[in-house]
Amino acid sequence: MRLTLLVLCVYFVVPMGTSTVDDVNRLLARANSTNYNKRIRPLKNQTNAIEVKLGLILYSIQDFDQPKEALSTSVQLLVHWQDELLAWEKDEYGGIEEMLFPQDDIWKPDLRLNNSYKSFTGFGSADLSLWVSNDGNVSWFPIQALDSQCSVNTYKFPHDTQTCSLFFESAEHEPGAVEFKLVLERRLSYYMIHIFGPIIVVSILGPFTFLLPADKGDRISFANPILYELRHVDQR
Ligand SMILES: *[C@@H]1O[C@H](CO)[C@@H](O)[C@H](O)[C@H]1NC(C)=O
Ligand SMILES: *[C@@H]1O[C@H](CO)[C@@H](O)[C@H](O)[C@H]1NC(C)=O
Ligand SMILES: *[C@@H]1O[C@H](CO)[C@@H](O)[C@H](O)[C@H]1NC(C)=O
Ligand SMILES: *[C@@H]1O[C@H](CO)[C@@H](O)[C@H](O)[C@H]1NC(C)=O
Repeated sequence: MRLTLLVLCVYFVVPMGTSTVDDVNRLLARANSTNYNKRIRPLKNQTNAIEVKLGLILYSIQDFDQPKEALSTSVQLLVHWQDELLAWEKDEYGGIEEMLFPQDDIWKPDLRLNNSYKSFTGFGSADLSLWVSNDGNVSWFPIQALDSQCSVNTYKFPHDTQTCSLFFESAEHEPGAVEFKLVLERRLSYYMIHIFGPIIVVSILGPFTFLLPADKGDRISFANPILYELRHVDQR
């Protein structure tokens, strides 16, 4: 019998103040107005610096290719900044306090992963929206698969720990990067069971080949699996 599971999801799109369709439209149109240019840093005084806060959630490590020194991770970035030019008086827009703007409609920091292993194509996507509150706070939460370079030092193998960094920098502005460090510790038990254990057992068995009579085929059929085992240990 096949079990069919029906999941019913109900979304409530919360009303925003006493706003009307017209209020929402006028607000969205602010980003497209001639007063707003997404290529200009959203500061009234352009001599000031814009503060971008960056956080990171590590969801998983997909792969750590040690010969290639490439680490593949799945992360979510938490990016916050203040957009002074998008901020609005909520009373002029029917009390709307927060609004979602498509990511490509407004200014956002040109963040890059500077130690990317592959060519880097930017964060987020066109169908991702950013939360903007009426005081201009913007929140951007792109989820991303990252491939970063991580130099491997196996001097202490198999007791080694590897430290991999994710360097984020803003391409267009002052130099300076934010670094997130991931410390990876090798699990010794894995290598004992899958690498060293078989090598030791196989090395002990090896000399016993000479106890078998040379004129029968047994020596070969005994030694072959041993050689096979040794050759394939490195593929684990
Ligand atoms: C803003 O302009 C872009 C392209 O010019 C368009 O795709 C988008 O729908 C516009 N948004 C609004 C809210 O008018
Ligand atoms: C802009 O900021 C700079 C430095 O904070 C200040 O010296 C300057 O007077 C400001 N300009 C205006 C127009 O407020
Ligand atoms: C990335 O930025 C960091 C810190 O500024 C720097 O040490 C590193 O060399 C940069 N890496 C590349 C590949 O540019
Ligand atoms: C906007 O950001 C500032 C500074 O981070 C904070 O003090 C303020 O509470 C934020 N406003 C909202 C509505 O979250």
